[in-house]
Amino acid sequence: MKPIRLDKLLGEMGAGTRSQIKEMAKKGRIRVNGQTEKKADRKIDQDADLVEIDGKPVVYEAFEYYLMNKPSGVISATEDSRHTTVLDLLPQAKRKDLFPVGRLDIDTEGLLLITNDGALAHRLLSPKKHVDKVYLASLKGTLPTDAVSQVKEGLILEDGTKTLPADLEILHEEKGTCQIRLTLHEGKFHQVKRMAIALGCEVTYLKRLSMGPLTLDEGLKPGESRPLTLEERKKLMVEEDDHEQDISR
Ligand code: URA
Repeated sequence: MKPIRLDKLLGEMGAGTRSQIKEMAKKGRIRVNGQTEKKADRKIDQDADLVEIDGKPVVYEAFEYYLMNKPSGVISATEDSRHTTVLDLLPQAKRKDLFPVGRLDIDTEGLLLITNDGALAHRLLSPKKHVDKVYLASLKGTLPTDAVSQVKEGLILEDGTKTLPADLEILHEEKGTCQIRLTLHEGKFHQVKRMAIALGCEVTYLKRLSMGPLTLDEGLKPGESRPLTLEERKKLMVEEDDHEQDISR
């Protein structure tokens, strides 16, 4: 990793603004490799130098990755003047440059990846990569008897576009309502809701269960999140690379 200025490193790790950090340095609260460091603009080698504030080590992380169980009523954006955003639900995040990877509607729950790794987000969202997304939905209405094969063929949406072949599993049907699991290999705007309409139904509840190799952690209540495990991070990197090769073949 390239050396980074001490104040930039501490700012990115959420220690304060540049002027607050300068002040901390002046007061002798910052140490580098055990020595008090008063120059906030000195360069730091993140791999070799130990930085401490008030005796507590500050570990630099260029990227953060969180798995959130997005609750209904919260928007998938970085800021909003009217609604709570998914980032408002992540006070433990250090970095200020995090964003949600793709969007879930305000009334959709479930798996949302939040990171500042733009290259990963690009790969996961690229229409060429066909990253699988699995949704659980409750529908109002009665599905046509050939719904599974219609979805497998691809549905014509209200604007005339056709969906890629997808997998529909009917989990439960009862008196004009049903519960389905839908696996999509693309991510059109409001896709599940529009597919439901194309089948003569209406979504009354929607939850994303997985995206690529990431699966919603059932231990996370709506609104809760946790950092990705090392295992999950590895899977994301490896599976995305594999997928890239598959598609380019
Ligand atoms: N499809 C939708 O209709 N809404 C979502 O939030 C996600 C997929």
